[in-house]
Amino acid sequence: MKANSNKGTMISSALNYSKTHFDRFVDELIDFLRIPSISTVPSSAKDVDKAAHWLVHHLQSLGLHDAKAFPTEGHPIVVAHYEVDPSRPTVLVYGHYDVQPVDPLDLWDSPPFSPVIKDGILYARGACDDKGQLFMHLKAFEAWMQTSGRAPVNLKFILEGEEESGSASLPGFIETHRNALAADVVVISDSSLFASGIPSITYGLRGMTYVEMTLTGPDRDLHSGTYGGAIHNPINALGDLIGKMHDEHHRITIDGFYDRVRPLSEDELDAIDALPFNAKNWVQEVGVDLPVTEYGFSVLVSSTSRPTLDCNGIWGGYTGDGAKTVLPSQASAKISMRLVPDQDPKEIAELTESWLRRHLPASMHMDFKVVHGAHPVLIDTESRAMAAAAKALEDVYGCPPYFTRIGGSIPVVADFKELLGLDSVLMGFGLDSDAIHSPNEHFGLDRFAEGIEAILRFHAHYGLP
Ligand code: BES
Ligand code: ZN
Repeated sequence: MKANSNKGTMISSALNYSKTHFDRFVDELIDFLRIPSISTVPSSAKDVDKAAHWLVHHLQSLGLHDAKAFPTEGHPIVVAHYEVDPSRPTVLVYGHYDVQPVDPLDLWDSPPFSPVIKDGILYARGACDDKGQLFMHLKAFEAWMQTSGRAPVNLKFILEGEEESGSASLPGFIETHRNALAADVVVISDSSLFASGIPSITYGLRGMTYVEMTLTGPDRDLHSGTYGGAIHNPINALGDLIGKMHDEHHRITIDGFYDRVRPLSEDELDAIDALPFNAKNWVQEVGVDLPVTEYGFSVLVSSTSRPTLDCNGIWGGYTGDGAKTVLPSQASAKISMRLVPDQDPKEIAELTESWLRRHLPASMHMDFKVVHGAHPVLIDTESRAMAAAAKALEDVYGCPPYFTRIGGSIPVVADFKELLGLDSVLMGFGLDSDAIHSPNEHFGLDRFAEGIEAILRFHAHYGLP
């Protein structure tokens, strides 16, 4: 009884603190968002570094004196530890401080790294993915320290700067720092609520195979009048190949591609059917009239639980103003494939390359490279940490969360499982409409506040059951 009322007092003091200091929390986040830490662009490396050090200083100011940025071959990994009591559970918080590129820049209503608040919504690259969401964990920790002087759980932070470019340095780092990272569970806020006001915990993520290819035909750009008609055009050939990668049922034609796809269980299909989802509204929100899915699968199943193949970019030839009559020497494309259990990113890359080589016209040479990969994941929903997270979300939203699969990828989740044996609780507060990876990315300050509250309540339920 005493423990419970103490728990209640601790929670309400921490919540009060976070309400009283909310405006400052937002100002600090804005400061963090001003740093253009784009990990995929080599010229931004200094800024990625700056964001890592901003975090180190911030963590230190919260009392985590061992906070440190470890250099890697790519971008630094920021780590900090807090121990309240070895008999309490330890939560490893993962987040990423790198962001996506900002192009097309002219479609932003305000500059991506000059955050603005309009109608309670914070606009900036990284506002939702993931600076705003990782910052909620720092502020929850601050609220505990400033009210109770201690948190209900032991906490460790691992914050990386390469998530948007495939987390290349992280698995090696986790392996070498295995002991320092030992924990009971990983908690990550880098995903979405099912919908506004409708909480969810993500238990499935898609994996990824990302490849890049260049077709070369003639050894130089040619006059399309002199040579057109007799020399094969690499852009035409590339378009042809990409077109052939799906059949008329929108199934991917790469041999063996679906061999390891684990079918959804009846229970999962029923759970997906029961979600409050309106496919028509969902597609209209992105300005299209109708969804296009793999034949026989619903919009929600197709966008979360079936594999995909998408051309992300395609280039070659003349793209400037006016007309230039050229038969180009080369054409290139970047292709991502979202994978589901039990597809293997490496095997899919091999199947893709051999399919392309078999279908490559004799007139073309192909350079093919794998850019990065990530394993798909499904997480056991029956754990004490999941129950604590569900309870926390129910406290905040007034209804229990749905357990959902999402279509995006967070590569490190599979690494934590494989290298440390740890499951992750994916408790995200974004919305599909937050425009992550797009112009005008934003994060509602209401969700920033809900996230801090849910994290505080999760710590309390998990650490003081
Ligand atoms: N926050 C996203 C993951 C995500 C995407 C969650 C969509 C919810 C909805 C994450 O930062 C991300 O973008 N991941 C990349 C990983 C890739 C580079 C391997 C992705 O999914 O494209
Ligand atoms: Zn992202």
